[in-house]
Amino acid sequence: MNAQKLVDTARALVAGDKGLLAMDESNPTCNKRFAKLGIPQTVEARRAYRELILTTPRLGECISGVILYDETIRQERKDGTPFMKVIKDAGIIPGIKVDAGAKDLAGHPSERITEGLDGLRDRLAECSRIGARFAKWRAVIIIGDGIPSRGCMEANAQVLACYAALCQEAGLAPIVEPEVLMDGDHTLERCREVTENVLRTVFNQLYLQRVMLEGMILKPNMVLPGLTCPKQETVDEVADATVRCLLRAVPAAVPGIAFLSGGQPAELASARLNAMNVRFKSQMPWALTFSFSRAIQQPALEIWRGEEAQVVAAQRALYHRALCNRAARRGEYSAAMERT
Ligand code: 13P
Repeated sequence: MNAQKLVDTARALVAGDKGLLAMDESNPTCNKRFAKLGIPQTVEARRAYRELILTTPRLGECISGVILYDETIRQERKDGTPFMKVIKDAGIIPGIKVDAGAKDLAGHPSERITEGLDGLRDRLAECSRIGARFAKWRAVIIIGDGIPSRGCMEANAQVLACYAALCQEAGLAPIVEPEVLMDGDHTLERCREVTENVLRTVFNQLYLQRVMLEGMILKPNMVLPGLTCPKQETVDEVADATVRCLLRAVPAAVPGIAFLSGGQPAELASARLNAMNVRFKSQMPWALTFSFSRAIQQPALEIWRGEEAQVVAAQRALYHRALCNRAARRGEYSAAMERT
């Protein structure tokens, strides 16, 4: 294992004021989002959409790394340029999602376990050969009546740790993503309690599997009230609850924390990240940034709708969200940015 290479990659992903762009939606997820907007659910439409994202002018000013889906990593621009070359020319680090999705966890009604460890060592070697420098694995934790169970949290944490260890063996920096979902009417306090528990469980397993914390990135949820909870806390309250939880549960050796957006409105995700960086900058041992999919892509997707004539306008919207999140990382985002 080349430890320095892993540390360099992890640090580069969270360097300066940039963040990550997740564009690794599986085909079923991507197709679902396309279907809602009347976009054809074809390989060509997915390729064209990913070309739109990756050829957005000046994307590399705000984005340090992109997370690709398996289908995308081998695709090309219409003019034949491989996407991997487009990414590298933009000064962006390519990464890939390597999990096989969340499935029902046996014996645990309504809970999930992420699959994909079988054959992972060989797949990681192939990803590295193609040029990926980091990988991602998402575990899903659902809050509900009596859940998450200890069994679900431990099982997902163990699998995440086995994945992370295999990544480091292959020279790829792992992004470790335990996502506590926003769905439900639970309170912010319940989300905080579950998130802290999940993170402690994950870091315990990472320790047991000898994962080098300096060579990985954590991708957690923000601590939020459930989507249908009647009480919705302010931006500052969310920022306080989230950073306090992370300070308790995430070791200082981790170079960076990059949030998923989880279905939050794009502007709110920027405002919350901004508040965390404004209120806690000097107290945090790790960089605090973004690794959003929907909160960067959704406005652009809604403008594009599969129309060639809309590509430039969609790219402008994508760049705008990337720029807002870069400002949030510096603690310089304001609602006024949304009016420009
Ligand atoms: P969202 O930002 O849309 O939650 O997606 C992030 C991600 O990578 C999910 O795995």
